[in-house]
Order: sequence, then C-alpha cells, then structure tokens
Amino acid sequence: MKIGASFLKSKNIPNDLEKLNETDVDYIHIDVADGKFVGNKTLPYKEMRYIYRYTSKRLDVHLMVENPSVYIPLYAELNTEFITFHIETTEDIERNLKMIKEYSIKCGLAINPETKVSDLIPYLPYLDMILVMSVTPGYGGQEFIEETHEKLKELRVLLDSYNVKALISVDGGINYDTRKLCDVADMIIAGSYITNSDDFQEKISSLR
Ligand code: DX5
Ligand code: ZN
Repeated sequence: MKIGASFLKSKNIPNDLEKLNETDVDYIHIDVADGKFVGNKTLPYKEMRYIYRYTSKRLDVHLMVENPSVYIPLYAELNTEFITFHIETTEDIERNLKMIKEYSIKCGLAINPETKVSDLIPYLPYLDMILVMSVTPGYGGQEFIEETHEKLKELRVLLDSYNVKALISVDGGINYDTRKLCDVADMIIAGSYITNSDDFQEKISSLR
C-alpha cells in the first residue's frame, strides 16, 4: 500500500515536513483549501511554494477549491506527481484534466462522500487517480465514514469493467483501525494519525 502524509493538522509544518522526509512515506499530500469550495482556508501559494526547503518527497496535491484552473499552473511548478481536483467543481472538468496533463503531471478527480462512483464514468479515460473522500473535505481529524468501504469495492468493480488502470486513493480519518476498510485501494492518505504522534515512521509502517 502506498502512503501519502497530509500535514493539514500539523502544528509546526516545517518541522513535521522535515520529520516526514526521514520516513519512507511515498508522498506528501498537500491539501489546498480556498475557503469557498470548503470552509477551511490553507496557506497561500506564496508560502507553500517554499515546501522544497523542507522535503524532497514527491507531492500529491489535493485541490479543494472552486477554481482548479487558477491553482493548477501554480502547483505544477513544484515537485508534483499528482494534481487532483473535485468532480463537484463547476469549471470544465475535461479541460482542467487536460491542463494538468499538459504539465506532464498525473491527474486525478476527488469525489465527496455523497457523490456516486458512476459520476466518474465520463472521465475514466483521462484519469491516473481517483481520490475517494472518506470524510467531508476541508478539515483534518474527522471520523472515517464507514460506507466508504462499500464505495471502494464498487469503484474497483467499475474500474475493472472499463479496464481502467487509475489508482484508487482514500483520504480522511484513516488510522490503524479504519485502514482495514481500505484494502481495495492502492494508496491511503493519513494526516492527524501520523502528525499527532511521536513516531511518524511507526504510524506509517502500521498502515502499509
Ligand atoms: C480532508 C483532507 C485530508 C485530511 C486528512 O479535508 O483532504 O487530506 O487532511 O487528515 P486526517 O487523516 O486527519 O483525516
Ligand atoms: Zn486531502
């Protein structure tokens, strides 16, 4: 299982990024929230762009924003492997997926807990990743929504039936117990479970 670490709940971001850089975590998951698509607002790009000073890990960018087209060119400048935005946004989805690909970055769509997996069907040919939200997006430290377990299985069947190789990633409320409900995924994102602990590597290893 691939693991991405979110620092949304971190109390000392530079310090936690440096600590994560010493672990075998696969990706640093950057949550970008604009205060419009979700209630929360994260650090502006003019600060986030210095992330390379604290980590050499590849970045998995999760845009929780109303206008992905504004943020894609910015986050494409970093050490970014994936950019994911939400299917619930109102901009032209196909156009934004193509914009990400033009930067030679892998593209993903995130789906909120109430969004059906079948809504992904028109976009399957373009996707490198699907990010299944297991909490309502915006805040770290929430409880994992158990129905996600069924949804992940349903998504796996859907991808197999369309012969699509996109990765399935799960985001929100993941810890040692809820990890068991994510077995069919390829990647999991964990925030507070890792950053609230004294031993990041131990927590990361417990999720693999
Ligand atoms: C939720 C974010 C998640 C979150 C994960 O809006 O997209 O990435 O920070 O944090 P935990 O693991 O604390 O739920
Ligand atoms: Zn996230």
